[in-house]
Amino acid sequence: MQLKETVDYINEKTNNFAPEIAIVLGSGLGDFADDFCDIALSYKDIPGFEASTVKGHKGQLVFATVAGKKVVMMQGRFHYYEGHPIQKVVYPVKVFKKLGVKTLIVTNAAGGINRTFNASDLMLITDHINFMHVNPLIGPNDEELGPRFPDMTEVYKKDLQEIAMSAAKKLDINLKKGVYMALTGPNYETPSETKMVEMLGADAVGMSTVPEAMVANYCGMKVLGISCISNAAAGITGEVLSHQEVIEAANAVKGKFKSLLFECVKAM
Ligand code: HPA
Repeated sequence: MQLKETVDYINEKTNNFAPEIAIVLGSGLGDFADDFCDIALSYKDIPGFEASTVKGHKGQLVFATVAGKKVVMMQGRFHYYEGHPIQKVVYPVKVFKKLGVKTLIVTNAAGGINRTFNASDLMLITDHINFMHVNPLIGPNDEELGPRFPDMTEVYKKDLQEIAMSAAKKLDINLKKGVYMALTGPNYETPSETKMVEMLGADAVGMSTVPEAMVANYCGMKVLGISCISNAAAGITGEVLSHQEVIEAANAVKGKFKSLLFECVKAM
């Protein structure tokens, strides 16, 4: 059984670290883990994990104590657009569940749909729309992980949202709130797709996060989501988009992002 093999490997390498919180660090946001790194395991060495192929993603699991909490961090995630089967994208979340993680924090860089958002804003994810045309929960159900027909009424738990809003207030960060919609990527949207995303009720658009959040919720983990708005989605300002711009915007908010994340972990 693969999950057991992965969990045994991690437990052996980390001396049964037993993290309580897992954090997925998105594009350009991986630096957070460097400040705390106790043990790092490269994805390529972990049974069942894939190698990360995206620029700006280090591709390792970092185990550390952050604000007194035992945390495992993904420096880089697996994206569906990389060609990984969706089951591989969510595999780390199932591993986290087996390691005893109770709370998952998902982060990403996203395009701003809401016209009141600016590049370098941080947005608390209040809900999501799965528009990836793929569902990681399809297939035989492992009843040990979660139910066949999981409820998704409150994927991003209200109490965690309150923690994030209070942390932002304390740090004087104007934390926006909104709905995140995931498309597969890897291309950015056309202006017409941006209009569609807006009409469907999303405030931000990206290419990740939703599969992991869905599986975490299914497994009974609490989820907190934070998007770094790296750019206005295509067609809003007329500017052309690039991954470089996304990374630079993430770099620009790094300080703000790190302090918010730290405060959230501390308050959990
Ligand atoms: N669209 C989709 N994904 C993104 C964007 C965007 O504009 N910016 C960063 N990730």
